[in-house]
Formats: sequence, C-alpha cells, structure tokens
Amino acid sequence: MKSYSIALIPGDGIGRDVTAAAWTVLDMAARHSGFAVTGTEFPWSCRFFKETGRMMPEDGIETLRGFHAILLGAVGWPAEVPDSVSLHGLLLPIRKAFVQYANIRPHRLLPGVTGPLRAESFDILCIRENTEGEYSGAGGRVHQGTLDEVAVETSIFTRAGVERILRFGFEQARARRGRLASVTKSNAQKHSMVFWDEITHKLAADYPDVAATSYHVDALAARMIMAPESLDVVVASNLFGDILTDIGAAIQGGLGYAASANINPDRSAPSMFEPVHGSAPDIAHLGIANPIAAIWSGAMMLDHLGERDAAGRVMKALEATTARGVGTVAGKDSTDAVTAAVVAALN
Ligand code: NAD
Ligand code: IPM
Ligand code: MN
Repeated sequence: MKSYSIALIPGDGIGRDVTAAAWTVLDMAARHSGFAVTGTEFPWSCRFFKETGRMMPEDGIETLRGFHAILLGAVGWPAEVPDSVSLHGLLLPIRKAFVQYANIRPHRLLPGVTGPLRAESFDILCIRENTEGEYSGAGGRVHQGTLDEVAVETSIFTRAGVERILRFGFEQARARRGRLASVTKSNAQKHSMVFWDEITHKLAADYPDVAATSYHVDALAARMIMAPESLDVVVASNLFGDILTDIGAAIQGGLGYAASANINPDRSAPSMFEPVHGSAPDIAHLGIANPIAAIWSGAMMLDHLGERDAAGRVMKALEATTARGVGTVAGKDSTDAVTAAVVAALN
C-alpha cells in the first residue's frame, strides 16, 4: 500500500490539540482512499527549549528533510520563552531552509459559519512571500539602553525572490478567476516596494489573461472588509501577508478556520502545513480549540501530495460538519466533539 511519511510537530499550547485532531482525520481519510500516512512525532517546542536550550536539535532540519511533508501545530509560549527566540529557533528556519517560499492561505466561509461581514460570497487566496522581506532577520541594536539607542530591522527583497512569488501568484490567478492583487506600500517605502511594483508590472505582460492590480496594503486591508468579493488572488510580502491573513481569518469566522500551506513549489524539500493561528495560551488546556484550521491545512497537505481524492473527502467532511452547526461558534463545541463529527462525516 502506498504510504507517506509525515513529520508531526505539535509544538506548544493548542498546537498539540489541533495537530492530534488533524492527524485523526488524515489517517482516516487516507484509509478511505486506499493509502497510508505514517506519522513521526517530534517534541520540539518551548518545553523542549527549557529542557535542552534549543527549539530543535542541531540536526533538526536534516532530520525533517527525509519526510514527504511536515504537519505543524503552533510554536510559542511567551510566558516562558521570548517569541523572538522560539520562532527564530523552529518555525522560521524550517520555512527558509526548505525554500517554502509560497505561503498559501485560503479565506472563504464554510457553510453554516457566520463571519462578521454582510458579504458571504468571498473566496480569496492569499499568497504570502515566506522566506525574505521584513522577516530577513537582518539588523541590530547599538547603544543599547541609552538615549542614543538605535534599532534597525532591514527588509531584504531579491529579484529572484519577488519574481518567483509573483509568478506563483499569476499562475494561481490564471487557474482561478483571473484576478491578481499585488500588495505593497510603494507610496511610503520607495526602494523595495517600488521594486515589487515594477516586477508586478513586468510579469503582467506574460499573463495577458490575468487582470493584475497593484494596491497599497492599507487600502487592501480595507477592501478585504468592505468588498472581499472583489478579490481573487492576493500576493503580498512576508509581513503584509502575515497581517492580511489574520484579517482573512477574521472575515471567515475567526482564527480557528484559517488554514495555511508553506509550499516549496520546486519540491526540492518537504512542504509544511499548519493553521494560521498560534498556540493560544488564553485557551490552552480548555479543550475548546477549534481544530478546523488544522484539519483544513491537513487537506492542503493531501492535495500537495497528489492525493486529491482524500483531500476532497476531508474538505467535504469539514463542510458537512459545519453545515449541521458543529464547530460554527467559538468555544461551543469541544475540540474532540468537532473532530469526532468530522470523522463521522468522512466517506
Ligand atoms: P493566537 O493565534 O495564538 O491567538 C489569538 C486569539 O485567537 C486568541 O484569543 C486565541 O484564543 C484565538 N485562537 C487562536 N486559534 C484558535 C483556535 N484554533 N480556536 C479558537 N480560538 C483560537 O495568537 P497570539 O496570541 O498572538 O500568539 C500566541 C503564541 O503563538 C505566541 O507565542 C505567538 O508568537 C505564537 N504564534 C505562533 C504561530 C505559529 O506557530 N504558526 C502563529 C501565530 C502565533
Ligand atoms: C504566522 C505567524 C508567524 C509569522 C509568527 C509566529 C512568526 O504569525 O504563521 O502567521 O509571522 O509568520
Ligand atoms: Mn500570523
């Protein structure tokens, strides 16, 4: 029987609950579709950091390289480990080392879920640049603790990096409704963002079938709320994409619904699948984390592995679950109850 080896990194807080939920569903969906998934769990997390002084072992990246894909819950426990340490020690290095440059985040309402907007018919695919830009980590601080202190955080945008993410976006737009929104702040940021606009303009000539529009990120944020149905594919830099996709999560009902895929489009290394949300320390241990975002991310993993049939089963089961009112109101149904309902709806 065909089998896929999956690295499981539950991480911290509700990451553990939602990864377990997603795994239960994926395992069952694979059986229904006649293949197997084999999970190997890694305890890399803030707890691991407290015990070992590292978020993952020195050879962690090499260990992960051999897997077909990675399923991650969430990383971060700010009361114990500074976020700048935990995230730069685990999540961000994986995205970078495995050249997962396309972070794909779909935003639409599942049936029965009521978002905060009047509009119900939006279907937005956010594509976030995932390896450079504002997250380059370049910079530093001088004269620390004095009035002369200066902190510099340098955004690095390369032509290769911007071209490949925009090309990826144009290809997605071509396969969807033919509209691409390219997001910058080129009125204020006159180097990198003008550069991004120029590349958008240049590539648009290669995609005459795609209507490409450049937006400033502030205006695009407003548009996501005022006229989300006018958007199809949205391509943004690492930080802008991060912020816009929490807006995307909000309009689809909350962070518990927003899925995400960190894709290495060249398939030269594993891709990683995780919900948009974090470890939610405020509700950890309550058993009420919504597992839908993690399960949906798992469906994106099956799709990436080429298992379209199984991916479709998971999405249909999710839709059947919310359509009958399970998992549609934050905190009403337990993580286990939602997971059981999704499993029961699988066929
Ligand atoms: P968060 O996403 O963890 O939580 C924000 C709010 O959304 C909280 O009120 C939380 O209860 C709620 N929420 C999130 N997921 C939910 C779910 N599945 N079901 C129901 N409610 C949910 O963001 P935060 O509080 O800013 O971050 C907490 C920690 O997680 C920090 O350490 C942060 O750095 C980290 N973080 C990690 C990732 C990741 O690993 N991919 C993503 C975002 C934040
Ligand atoms: C996300 C998260 C991460 C990001 C953090 C935790 C570093 O917010 O995946 O959206 O900003 O990429
Ligand atoms: Mn985020």
